[in-house]
Amino acid sequence: MIPSRISFDAEMLLFLALSFSAVIVTFCVGPTLAVAQSSNNNNNATTIPVNVGVVLDLETWVGQMGLSCITMSLSDFYSSNPSYKTRLVLNVRDSKRDEVAAAAAALDLIKNEQVQAIIGPQGSMQADFVIHLGNKSHVPIISFSATSPSLSSIRSSYFVRAAQNDSSQVNAISTVIQAFGWKEAVLVYVDNKFGEGIIPSLTNALEEVGTQVPYRSLISPSATDDQILQELYKLMTMQTRVFIVHMLPTLGSRLFAKAKEVGMMSEGYVWILTNGITDLLSSMDSSIVASSMQGVLGIKTYIPDTPSLDNFMARWKMKFQKENPSILNPTLNIFGYRAYDAARALAMAIEEMGTTNLTFQVMNASTNATDLDTIGVSQNGQKLLQELANMTFTGLTGNVRLVDGQLESSMFQIVNINGYAAREIGFWTLEKGLLRDLYSFNTSKYFINLISIIWPGDSTSVPKGWEISPNGKRLKILVPKKDSFFQFVTVTQDPSRNTFQVTGYCIDIFQAVIEKLPYDVAYDFIPFFFTDGSSAGSTYNDMIDQVFYKNYDAVVGDTTIIANRSLYVDFTLPYTESGVAMLVPYKDSKSKNAWVFLKPLTWDLWLTTGCFFVFIALVVWILEHQINEEFRGSIAHQVGTSFWFSFSTMVFAQRERVFNNLTRFVVIMWFFVVLILTQSYTASLSSLLVVQNLQPTMTDMDQLLKSGEKVGYQHGSFIYGMLKQMKFDDSRLIYYHSPEECDALLSKGSAKGGIGAAFDEIPYIKLVFSQYCNKYTMIPTLKTAGFGFVISSNSLDLDSFWGLFLIAGVAAVLALLIFMVMFINRNWHVITSSSGSLWEIIVALGRRFHQRDLNSHTFRKAKFRDRSMEDGGNKTAAVETSENNSFSSTPSSDSSQIDNVLTNEQGIPYAEQGRPNHVDERCLETA
Ligand SMILES: *[C@@H]1O[C@H](CO)[C@@H](O)[C@H](O)[C@H]1NC(C)=O
Ligand SMILES: *[C@@H]1O[C@H](CO)[C@@H](O)[C@H](O)[C@H]1NC(C)=O
Ligand SMILES: *[C@@H]1O[C@H](CO)[C@@H](O)[C@H](O)[C@H]1NC(C)=O
Ligand SMILES: *[C@@H]1O[C@H](CO)[C@@H](O)[C@H](O)[C@H]1NC(C)=O
Repeated sequence: MIPSRISFDAEMLLFLALSFSAVIVTFCVGPTLAVAQSSNNNNNATTIPVNVGVVLDLETWVGQMGLSCITMSLSDFYSSNPSYKTRLVLNVRDSKRDEVAAAAAALDLIKNEQVQAIIGPQGSMQADFVIHLGNKSHVPIISFSATSPSLSSIRSSYFVRAAQNDSSQVNAISTVIQAFGWKEAVLVYVDNKFGEGIIPSLTNALEEVGTQVPYRSLISPSATDDQILQELYKLMTMQTRVFIVHMLPTLGSRLFAKAKEVGMMSEGYVWILTNGITDLLSSMDSSIVASSMQGVLGIKTYIPDTPSLDNFMARWKMKFQKENPSILNPTLNIFGYRAYDAARALAMAIEEMGTTNLTFQVMNASTNATDLDTIGVSQNGQKLLQELANMTFTGLTGNVRLVDGQLESSMFQIVNINGYAAREIGFWTLEKGLLRDLYSFNTSKYFINLISIIWPGDSTSVPKGWEISPNGKRLKILVPKKDSFFQFVTVTQDPSRNTFQVTGYCIDIFQAVIEKLPYDVAYDFIPFFFTDGSSAGSTYNDMIDQVFYKNYDAVVGDTTIIANRSLYVDFTLPYTESGVAMLVPYKDSKSKNAWVFLKPLTWDLWLTTGCFFVFIALVVWILEHQINEEFRGSIAHQVGTSFWFSFSTMVFAQRERVFNNLTRFVVIMWFFVVLILTQSYTASLSSLLVVQNLQPTMTDMDQLLKSGEKVGYQHGSFIYGMLKQMKFDDSRLIYYHSPEECDALLSKGSAKGGIGAAFDEIPYIKLVFSQYCNKYTMIPTLKTAGFGFVISSNSLDLDSFWGLFLIAGVAAVLALLIFMVMFINRNWHVITSSSGSLWEIIVALGRRFHQRDLNSHTFRKAKFRDRSMEDGGNKTAAVETSENNSFSSTPSSDSSQIDNVLTNEQGIPYAEQGRPNHVDERCLETA
């Protein structure tokens, strides 16, 4: 490595010797005002000198380095372009790190030297007035080092920033912070135009990624060590452990030396530098870097390593050391490259502009006029600006292009200071975000996994960015000491040692959360005594106020999150069911309604059912009357039997047998209806009785408000305020302390000095409810019941059953019609033989209807049974002549006669004729 470097330097020497023979620039550095004059050796009569001013702080390294780079740039430029007509003549002024000196120098240059442009000034503070001056006299001010964003807000078109705006790096900073998930960051910056300039855009960028800035620490550029220490101690007491530092190296090295001293360069701290320090790190005292800045992260302007850059660095070093042998080991930094490129851009622009008129238009000066009154206006200013804006070339730092009067922003490197230098750990570009290297596609998501950062304190684990208890502080946590509802929080006092033990559901949850945290939190529980008794006693609000006044750090307990309270303190997420509920007793189940059995059916259903029973009785009677002895006899007997039959179908208890198939059809249909009806009735009645049993005395708030009943609330709870808001009068409000007290009040009832309902939050109400669940019911109050359909009654009504009745009705009517047709058919001879009026026919038919139908099974079976008894039970002997149409064949047979003949001693009718083949089984059955 060393031999190759030597040979390289030798080549350079040769090259330099050649170039020096072409152009020699006198280079003056000193405390006195220095003027560098271009004294061209090859006095080409045709070249035109163009005056250009340079205003720099020549005491500073950036000033010295900048000036040497400018002269080198011009000599390089004109030696490679000998045909150019113009030659820049530098008029150098030292601004002595002073704003007034910079302004005076600029004024002098414009007024006396009539410079076409000024390179400088160096710092953002000096730039302000100089920019205005340039605007007034139309002289472009080209600064390669004034980076403060606030200068852009002056909006002078004659200010050209040949450097990057500081705010171009804020997104790189915010992306890094976001990648590590830090939620808060403190800004530490120098209290001047340079420091402040970045703050608005940086704060915005941090806000965009959800990072808060809880504190801004301004450090005066002239702060003493004690003041810096004081500020650092203040930062130490805060919880945030992420600091973004924006200042220049002179102040920065003092800050970090002190930070190291007070222990803020240890594990857990995060320091992020803007390029204000990082870009100039090479010119910082390396012993301070190595001792006090270990583990610091930084944003650095990225300059690609190119051969032309290497070449320049070597040449520059040689030249500089030759001219300034007193300065050991000079190091170039980005401002040197920027100065080099700026000078080249200006030289090119002036050449392009041409040299038609290099004069200033000077005002008519009176003898009394000030310097500013007599300042001239450059005739070429506008043109020169245009040429600068159109300029593009490849400079030392890459492509040089001025967009809107400032250098296009480039990429940034993320660096980590280890040892004496900054180690590159990644890149940031506007398009891709964070990258491990420029050619990878790993975006910020994977960034953290890929790099190994050594953090302050030689730690390799990512700091969490905040400390819950700075300086080992223990959190003071209030817990409510109540005399009831111990399930939530119980504070048991040990009188002998004056200590407390805190247990309960809320404490368990808190401890579980603390255990889950990835770091330790030290805390002490401090009981907050609820003085009981009078309503003037302390409440939850009082306890929360203590946190608001910063007497305590937190409250753990059954504190409810309500809007008013969150104006004062922050709450965690809720860990219980939220809401307020009302506890009310059930209605007294002993006082049941005696007529509740009627309720399941509506009155019209009852009526319809009744009518149907009567109708069915009538139909059965009509169908059975002729053939069934049960439905014969006296009128009362017939009516009684018919109704008895019909109504006993209700419980399927009818005894009478029916013989007509039509009757059977009708009765089966009717059974079906009755079955459905009784089942529905049973179900409806039982549900009705159960619901009535569980009916709460109150169902909603409005009812309660109107009823005038007293209501209860837990002592100290915010429910009191809520009830007041709901317009409950104080006289109606009674507080309780415990579930037992609540139960006692509710049991007493409002009339006897108790309460009609109790209000509380759902967790408490559930607790009471779990102890007395058979007496009370819980009604959520702050919710409406939701949308619902309006249903007039919960009884069964006719609408639900008319289909059934229709079926039964149609069946009965159909059976009647069939019976009529058959009856008329059988008795057709009565109608045909009768020559009388319609009335007579009806009377005759009625008479027939009243008679027994001797053709039916019943009567034939009875006759057969009679016969078989006579035959000694010999069934085979019972042979008869079948005469189905005996009535029609013997139309004249007298009914009364038959009646007499066919009634046996038991009154059971039997027919004269029978059909043995039909009878056999029935016979056995009845026998
Ligand atoms: C002097 O100027 C002439 C005309 O512009 C040009 O041709 C010549 O190369 C120049 N000489 C030098 C040494 O620059
Ligand atoms: C710059 O000068 C123009 C007139 O030449 C003036 O209108 C403008 O306000 C000036 N701007 C500043 C920032 O002074
Ligand atoms: C210069 O100042 C003097 C005294 O203040 C005054 O008399 C004179 O008129 C001024 N001259 C001009 C040109 O303003
Ligand atoms: C609101 O909350 C604060 C803090 O707990 C309390 O001091 C104040 O009395 C409350 N105001 C009302 C109207 O409840």
